[in-house]
Amino acid sequence: HGTSKINDQGHLEIGGVDTTKLVAEYGTPLYVFDEALVRQRCREFVEAFTASGLKFQVAYASKAFCVMAMCRIVEEEGMSLDVVSDGELYTALQAGFPAERIHFHGNNKTISEIEMAIDAKIGCFVVDNFIELQMLNAIAADKRQKVKILLRITPGVEAHTHEYISTGQTDSKFGFDLGNGSAFRAIQEASELSHVELLGIHSHIGSQIFEVEGFRMAAEKMAGFAIQVRTELGVTFKVINLGGGFGIRYVSEDTPLPVAVYVKAITDAIKTNFGSNGYPLPEIWVEPGRSIVGDAGTTLYTVGTTKEIPGVRKYVAVDGGMTDNPRPALYQAVYEAGLANRATEQPEEIVSIAGKCCESGDMLIFDVNLPKVASGDILAVSSTGAYNYSMASNYNRIRRPGVVFVQDGHSDLVVNRESFEQIVGNDVIPARMKQVS
Ligand code: LLP
Repeated sequence: HGTSKINDQGHLEIGGVDTTKLVAEYGTPLYVFDEALVRQRCREFVEAFTASGLKFQVAYASKAFCVMAMCRIVEEEGMSLDVVSDGELYTALQAGFPAERIHFHGNNKTISEIEMAIDAKIGCFVVDNFIELQMLNAIAADKRQKVKILLRITPGVEAHTHEYISTGQTDSKFGFDLGNGSAFRAIQEASELSHVELLGIHSHIGSQIFEVEGFRMAAEKMAGFAIQVRTELGVTFKVINLGGGFGIRYVSEDTPLPVAVYVKAITDAIKTNFGSNGYPLPEIWVEPGRSIVGDAGTTLYTVGTTKEIPGVRKYVAVDGGMTDNPRPALYQAVYEAGLANRATEQPEEIVSIAGKCCESGDMLIFDVNLPKVASGDILAVSSTGAYNYSMASNYNRIRRPGVVFVQDGHSDLVVNRESFEQIVGNDVIPARMKQVS
């Protein structure tokens, strides 16, 4: 998919670049992003919303993959950006991302994060709880500013990949509950504060969702609430933000719908539930993360050792693992892989891909069908663009891999592989200990 194909040498090629050449140039492990596919996903969202005729913002959820070059792409594609920490905010600002298009999320924003964001003049805070609401108002008052906010609502809809549940009240650390009246009280409180401007409400019902039903339900609940608030408090929302969560294909059994189908379900639900009630059609915002970058990312590894336990399993170890992709260990996430240097060869054996970390749980893939694997082969694991680099760690003091963007036959290094100097860069040997010369 995307620009991936097998070239005349029988090698996996992405963005017109032979992956074995990438390995020769940058080493492994290496994250490779198909830039054309990232931009295509951005455009699918923007075009589908444009077609709806509603006012909208598509805010890329940068937690999925937040580096400066990615912020540049999001900016160029005319989208907004959702950040959840001072680190993500700093990255966006350093990349020259327009502050007014930045939305700040999170259930425990610190005073210094709020100050940094107000000083930068970001576009909107998504306020999560009563303490934050008061704190934000007070800090804004100190700075003689008025800040735009959405309130994060827990709508009582929770979507999973193939199912959704609707509960009166959800047990979640995030947001103001719809069911127990705290969302209503938050609106009341926010509309009385003089240094915040309440734009509307936000919900996020889950991640890696395949079906449109959950989004439709969330839109309906938000609309019902908006109408109640308008009737009882005279407050009209300009913005409804329905969060992210659009599913992607990790393995062939995954069947996400085209982006346009999710967007249409959402915009139709908004039109039906707002317009028909004489409620002025709100702007609709979404926050896709995974669906922008997930399937555009591929991780390349070099195969090292193997261990065969007759009748049980063959382990094939690669030069990365849970440090660059913690998702299998954390969520039992599944992936597909192939040999990038022998991409036309027929599968011959079922093996399991192990990482190099010192723990048994460091497995990337169980039971993948590959040609006879040998030391030195290049393994390509697909759909690793979201929540891989961003969740990578230095466990075992392994250096985080570099990241390259490929397009039109060119590769650009957008994150250097970490250096040994960086590994010890923050370490301090106390003066009372013997110093190294
Ligand atoms: N908006 C909010 C408020 C969110 O909490 C999230 C994700 C998103 C947007 C973006 O969701 P997406 O479109 O990427 O599904 N580390 C996990 C995923 C955690 C998602 C957390 N919130 C993973 O690797 O699957």
